[in-house]
Amino acid sequence: MSDRPEIKPAEGRLGVLLPGFGAVGTTVVAGVEAARQGLAPLIGSLTQLNTIRLGKRTEKRAPLIREFLPLTALDDLVFGAWDPIPDDGYDSARVAGVLERHHLDPIEDFLRSIRPMPAVFDTAYVRKLDGPNVKTGSTKMELAEQLRDDIRRFRDENGCDRLVMVWGGSTEIFLRPGPVHETLESFEEGLRNNDPAIAPSMIYAYAAILEGVPYANGAPNLSADIPALEAAAAERGVPIGGKDFKTGQTLMKTILAPGLKTRMLGIQGWFSTNILGNRDGAVLDDPDSFKTKEESKLGVLEHILQPDMYPELYGNLYHKVRINYYPPRGDNKEGWDNIDIVGWMGYPMQIKVDFLCRDSILAAPIVLDLALFLDLASRAGMGGIQEWLSFYFKSPQTAPGLYPEHDIFIQHRKLKNTLRWMGGEEPLTHLGLEYYE
Ligand SMILES: NC(=O)c1ccc[n+]([C@@H]2O[C@H](COP(=O)([O-])OP(=O)(O)OC[C@H]3O[C@@H](n4cnc5c(N)ncnc54)[C@H](O)[C@@H]3O)[C@@H](O)[C@H]2O)c1
Repeated sequence: MSDRPEIKPAEGRLGVLLPGFGAVGTTVVAGVEAARQGLAPLIGSLTQLNTIRLGKRTEKRAPLIREFLPLTALDDLVFGAWDPIPDDGYDSARVAGVLERHHLDPIEDFLRSIRPMPAVFDTAYVRKLDGPNVKTGSTKMELAEQLRDDIRRFRDENGCDRLVMVWGGSTEIFLRPGPVHETLESFEEGLRNNDPAIAPSMIYAYAAILEGVPYANGAPNLSADIPALEAAAAERGVPIGGKDFKTGQTLMKTILAPGLKTRMLGIQGWFSTNILGNRDGAVLDDPDSFKTKEESKLGVLEHILQPDMYPELYGNLYHKVRINYYPPRGDNKEGWDNIDIVGWMGYPMQIKVDFLCRDSILAAPIVLDLALFLDLASRAGMGGIQEWLSFYFKSPQTAPGLYPEHDIFIQHRKLKNTLRWMGGEEPLTHLGLEYYE
């Protein structure tokens, strides 16, 4: 095992930069401010609520994670954003319709103080959306330079010691990694030549990594998930992670599927459909944006169930995912799952899940945790892909050739054991023979 890293203290302010200031972005900022004022609990956040068991069960050592490791305090967080839509935090939160006025109004002044910076945005990559708050430049490299200027200016104006960036922008159209994404040289050449294979989210990731700012991608589009940026992040010691926040239906899937598999129950079919009516739903109404999301959602079961190893149980699994834009529901989506399972001697059974879900309420704690853990990783000198943060993602980024872990319980053990290792404690194996010796 590698030596425990030296972790620099969490002194001073941490700037959290959000490309995309819509439903998720405003919900995380409002929640943190409400918590700072003692108005709301931050439910769903491991960094705020979770304890970590250390040593043997008989030792009864289980501090809060934030007491075990030096995480940045909520009072030291400062938020900034970019968005093509110029609404400030209050107006954007009202449009998103996630939080109610009794939560928004007491913090209205704070939310209004966050105005999104002009975005690097192009309707060629997000077709169902447009806005006037957009940067102009003759090349993508020029736009990247402007983002880098924004990052430095934000750091200076807000007296930040450190920064992190979490993409909560819309899902871009489906792109495959190609030659321009191979090396930093080819990528920079592509930026200068306005290569169409470089999407705006990649330009943010590039700007962040070159400024030494840890970067996480909450959407399924590639962004930093390309060899050029992975290598740049590893070389510069900048932590990165992605893709696509694990919320809603996929969260349920990665809770249920490992459970069924541990009991060696078969699955013949898993049909998932959703109705949602927020801006994200409108963007996903475009087939090319939906394709990006679909790829991200479909991979999950394949990796958890391992049909190659269990052809009898999962070899013929029919998996279908639909997302339907239905405006009356707003952000309060409904996700249905029909799961056809098979038991002893081949007898079929069915499970129906009807999840009346609030996606952004599930995504906001993920953004906070990613911001704090990426900053921790950065202070611990851990650069490149942070696989231990897979817990938060639908399509976890991994080293080339390594399949991702999707089982939420394996991901959780990995996260906790990484924290134990960072804090100089032994990982937990749950072997436990010593209690019976
Ligand atoms: N809500 C969830 O639980 C959840 C879960 C998983 C993934 N996601 C992903 O997170 C992202 C945000 O979700 P949301 O519900 O907040 O959507 P949203 O539509 O409310 O907000 C996205 C914002 O990003 C802005 N945007 C688009 N392109 C941009 C660019 N190039 N630069 C800066 N801003 C840009 C849009 O104008 C919009 O305000 C989406 O990609 C979504 O698929 C959300």
